[in-house]
Amino acid sequence: MFLFKTELALRQHLDKISSKPIGFVPTMGALHRGHESLIEASKDRGCYTVASIFVNPTQFNDKSDLEKYPRTVDADLELLYHIGCDAVFCPAVSEVYKEGKAPVPNVDLGHLGNTLEAAFRKGHFEGVMQVVARLLDMVRPQMLFMGQKDLQQLTIIQHMIQQLGIEVDLIPCPIVRQSSGLAISSRNSRLDEEVLPHVHLLHDTLMYCRQQFSETPISALKEEACKKLDLPFFKLEYLEFLNAQDLTILSSHGDADNVVAVLAVWANDVRLIDNMLVHGKF
Ligand code: PAJ
Repeated sequence: MFLFKTELALRQHLDKISSKPIGFVPTMGALHRGHESLIEASKDRGCYTVASIFVNPTQFNDKSDLEKYPRTVDADLELLYHIGCDAVFCPAVSEVYKEGKAPVPNVDLGHLGNTLEAAFRKGHFEGVMQVVARLLDMVRPQMLFMGQKDLQQLTIIQHMIQQLGIEVDLIPCPIVRQSSGLAISSRNSRLDEEVLPHVHLLHDTLMYCRQQFSETPISALKEEACKKLDLPFFKLEYLEFLNAQDLTILSSHGDADNVVAVLAVWANDVRLIDNMLVHGKF
């Protein structure tokens, strides 16, 4: 496995790879089975697989969140080596946000830029677009692998790729869960003893939405689903049913063929997001 810290060294290496398409998996490190599944998806498609580890400062609206973000580079590199990742890019902030380098042009996100995660995390997706566009420009992959765990991020990056005319295929990868159903996230290690026995309820609630979807009007289903998460240490930020294609919020069944339920919950001081397709396909 090769490790690069500069764009120049990375490019000199990747310019020599012509036998396989380049598959790219951007990450912020603190790697877990969710990230692993993206590397595996890239390898399964026969790609020369490049992962990046970069804790991107521009996507954190809260400075202390950036400082608290787990940094476990040695363990990450070991994991990547063991699963057969071909190359890792670990740039410094000054390498990604090089002085004099023009920022990525603005992308009009429409409603995606102000609902759901965007409403609760101001400036977050602008930062994500800046870093993903810059990394794509440096790595120049044929395929980009991202997780459906962060559905709005995935949809926004797809939108950005189209609007900026970037030539890459975005491959969405399914959510990897613990046996309890909890979606794996680097934040899970911060869950406390009070909430841990109950966090499976997020998945249970989404499963309930899927089971009941065809028989229950959306407003009634939303009400029932919210009740399931009504516990003193949970604070529900949103639970919505969305058109799976463009993530517009639905108020009735007939408005979309493919429907995904999404939620964001504070479990004491840890914010968790999850989603599940409840009707149709992605
Ligand atoms: P990070 O949170 O490290 O996630 C990197 C990728 O792993 C994302 O595409 C995310 O959706 C995927 N992922 C995380 N948990 C997953 C799970 N349980 N199952 C499947 N995929 C999962 O997302 C980011 O980093 C950053 O915003 C980034 C895109 C790297 C830009 O900085």
